[in-house]
Amino acid sequence: MNNSKAMPSVSAILSFILAAGFTVARAQEVPDVGPHPPMPPPHMESHIGNLTGNSDSDNAGFIYRRYCAGCHGELGDGQGENTPWLDPKPRNFTLATFKCRSTPTGTLPTDEDLFNSIERGLTNSNMPTWNTLSRQDRADLVALIKTFSPRWQKEKPGDPIKIPPEPPVTIESISHGKALFTKLECWKCHGPQGKGDGPSASTLTDSQDNPIRPYNFAAGKDDSRFKCGSTNADIYKIFMTGVDGTPMPSFADTIQPADAWDLVHFLRTLQVHRHSKENDVLKAAGGKIPPYVEKQAEAPAGQSDARTAGGGKLNTIF
Ligand code: HEC
Ligand code: HEC
Repeated sequence: MNNSKAMPSVSAILSFILAAGFTVARAQEVPDVGPHPPMPPPHMESHIGNLTGNSDSDNAGFIYRRYCAGCHGELGDGQGENTPWLDPKPRNFTLATFKCRSTPTGTLPTDEDLFNSIERGLTNSNMPTWNTLSRQDRADLVALIKTFSPRWQKEKPGDPIKIPPEPPVTIESISHGKALFTKLECWKCHGPQGKGDGPSASTLTDSQDNPIRPYNFAAGKDDSRFKCGSTNADIYKIFMTGVDGTPMPSFADTIQPADAWDLVHFLRTLQVHRHSKENDVLKAAGGKIPPYVEKQAEAPAGQSDARTAGGGKLNTIF
């Protein structure tokens, strides 16, 4: 009597254990899909000078939802309600890939880089200038942005690149910069006159497969800016760190720091409608950039003048 009653319950327990074991085993094979209970966001801080931003201050969440989520999305995935109409698309913060960094390509930006981007806005895009928000607001937003990607818990920002002091603008510097622009094939994307119309320009897409246009240097007037700043040091930084997430590469491995300034000086002359010391120097030289003559290495002692012997090597690409 008792036995026959106990039997089904034992087998029920057994099959339950089996089923449970089976479910666990299956759970390991099957990819982890479907909704999850929301994880509490990690606490993040930002440090900009003597300011500390907090991701979980009421302020951060309030300002983000009010001013940023419409484009960057509640979850920071770049899928705000305005996104379908925007080009370029708002940044997807869950990837932690940023265009404007003082740090080498592939690394995270510093808190200050993000802080400055929020203040400056990104020209030629719908990312507005947020200089109306207080410094504390912006520091809180930087901390909040860092909660959207786990990279911020695992990695440290890269070390900012070192920018040597700018040498004087000379026609030789501009001429060398032009030779570099040719040799490094900047023109293939940016065009020989920097108008953003090089042979590769129409084929370019960003890392999210959206079409992207190279910067047009010739379009701007005196107020022309770059996405990542407006000074000569900003230009230096842009091509030495790269615009991550776009085809615009980093040239840190190919350009020597001293040569980089020559390239900056040449790029300024592509901005034909902008007043600059570079354009003044070019004008004083008759408006024509002379062909670049490579400097010879110092002749070793005892040997006669290498310059007259070998002659200056002419850069004939242009
Ligand atoms: C009207 C839409 C819009 C709003 C509102 C907006 N953004 Fe953006 N944001 C963009 C777009 C578009 C980009 C990408 C621009 C690009 O790639 O050239 C961007 C890029 C960024 C970036 C990336 C910068 C980099 O170096 O890659 C940050 C950081 C950012 N936004 C922060 C914010 C914050 C913080 C707010 C709220 C205070 C905000 N944005 C509000 C549209 C918006
Ligand atoms: C493979 C194509 C490609 C090559 C080669 C290339 N660029 Fe770019 N560059 C781009 C694209 C695309 C952008 C626009 C990025 C954006 O809008 O986010 C850009 C943007 C820029 C910007 C402006 C970034 C800003 O903040 O707005 C500068 C400056 C620049 N490039 C300089 C150079 C220099 C100097 C070289 C050569 C040493 C070079 N580029 C080579 C594709 C290229």
